[in-house]
Amino acid sequence: MIAQIRPFLDKDFFTLLQIDRACFERGIAYDEAALRHFVYQISSRTLVLVVDSKVAGFGISAMTWGRGGRRTGHIITLDLLPEVRGLGHGRSLLRRLEEELTENGASQVTLEVDVRNSGAIGFYRKMGYKEERQLKDYYGRGRDGLRMVCNLPPAE
Ligand SMILES: CC(C)(COP(=O)(O)OP(=O)(O)OC[C@H]1O[C@@H](n2cnc3c(N)ncnc32)[C@H](O)[C@@H]1OP(=O)(O)O)[C@@H](O)C(=O)NCCC(=O)NCCS
Repeated sequence: MIAQIRPFLDKDFFTLLQIDRACFERGIAYDEAALRHFVYQISSRTLVLVVDSKVAGFGISAMTWGRGGRRTGHIITLDLLPEVRGLGHGRSLLRRLEEELTENGASQVTLEVDVRNSGAIGFYRKMGYKEERQLKDYYGRGRDGLRMVCNLPPAE
């Protein structure tokens, strides 16, 4: 198995949309306009996981500016096809996104995850993220989100 992480290219777009639909149920998965917005917004960064020459996952991060101008990174999504999960690729993708956020001055990273997505919550806990608070109806009525936060090490 040969795995590589590389920056997003325009030609990847519809593959990423399909991967997102394979990862999340309707109502949680992005529609085309939402994914386009996140991938192409000015402060975002999209990295693509290629396994044996096939695009098999991706992650999107963005920089946000908190109180007092503090730079905070945001993990918008991290999506791997089922067949490449549990092999360390999620960790590699997340760490690469975090490294770039650190290089851009972020000292903290936040994300939101569906409270019912116990697999992803377990993964993020392993990656050093802590639950900050529950977000009522974040994904629509009756679908709460969970905000998780991780402090990033200072840039070298
Ligand atoms: C969540 C996801 C990105 C994790 O990626 P992955 O490649 O499967 O995870 P890794 O193999 O890199 O695992 C890294 C660590 O997290 C742990 N982990 C992974 N999945 C886990 C789970 N479901 N429950 C608990 N721990 C988990 C692993 O055991 C590993 O720890 P270890 O090295 O101590 O054994 C992937 O499963 C996925 O794409 N899921 C569907 C989409 C999704 O829910 N994304 C998150 C929404 S924001």
